[in-house]
Amino acid sequence: MKVIFLGPPGSGKGTQAKMVSERLGIPQVSTGDMLRSAVREGTPMGLKAKAMMDSGALVADEVVVGIVQERLAKADCEAGFILDGFPRTVPQADALQTCLQGLGKDLDAVISLKVDSDAVVERITGRRTCRDCGKLFHVRFDPPTQENVCDSCGGALYLRDDDQEATIRKRLEVYAEQTAPLIAYYQRADLVRTIDGMQGIAQVQDQILVAMGGN
Ligand code: AP5
Repeated sequence: MKVIFLGPPGSGKGTQAKMVSERLGIPQVSTGDMLRSAVREGTPMGLKAKAMMDSGALVADEVVVGIVQERLAKADCEAGFILDGFPRTVPQADALQTCLQGLGKDLDAVISLKVDSDAVVERITGRRTCRDCGKLFHVRFDPPTQENVCDSCGGALYLRDDDQEATIRKRLEVYAEQTAPLIAYYQRADLVRTIDGMQGIAQVQDQILVAMGGN
């Protein structure tokens, strides 16, 4: 399966992509995770990206397109992949199309997660991420067994730098202006499967798996 998970910040793309990736054995390709790892490593690209990410703006199309092209050409993407947070603009979607054509692949579906803006703010301000393995938690909706400690690997949990309320509002504006138009873009190719992301994590996962073909 070659799928895109599309939705506003905090809609559950990362949570669901990780679960579906484990379940189906196909990689999660998250541009947010790849950019955060470049920031941690202090690469020149990471240093430039950090300012954009902290302000809630998007990183330049050519930067993210480059990292995704490189990633999709790897052997573990041969049987399929879940794109989480990419594409986010029409030029990125056009570049993805060209890249997939070059690899002789087609998209199977675009999973569009719908959530209310107020829920997004509550979800993101309560999100905690494991510094070591990247597992996601929520202080109220999906709490770790021990406060600030990852259930999977024992790593420390942290709040992302771009998860302050003002930055979240900016990210929502950016989503509405630059990313939401991709729903119509992919509807034209009849690829969009809309999921109510306001349900519980397990219910959302079940519906995504059905939308992806009943796995
Ligand atoms: P990115 O990391 O992609 O952030 P995002 O799209 O804003 O999405 P989030 O990671 O905030 O949320 P999510 O939808 O994954 O939700 P999650 O599962 O974590 O991007 C960050 C930045 O990088 C961007 O702002 C931009 O600067 C840059 N960037 C990335 N990609 C780019 C691109 N392609 N082009 C240019 N720039 C790019 O869930 C959130 C919380 O809610 C968690 O705590 C979770 O436990 C909880 N939760 C999840 N599902 C549910 C549920 N059903 N019910 C209750 N709680 C739930």
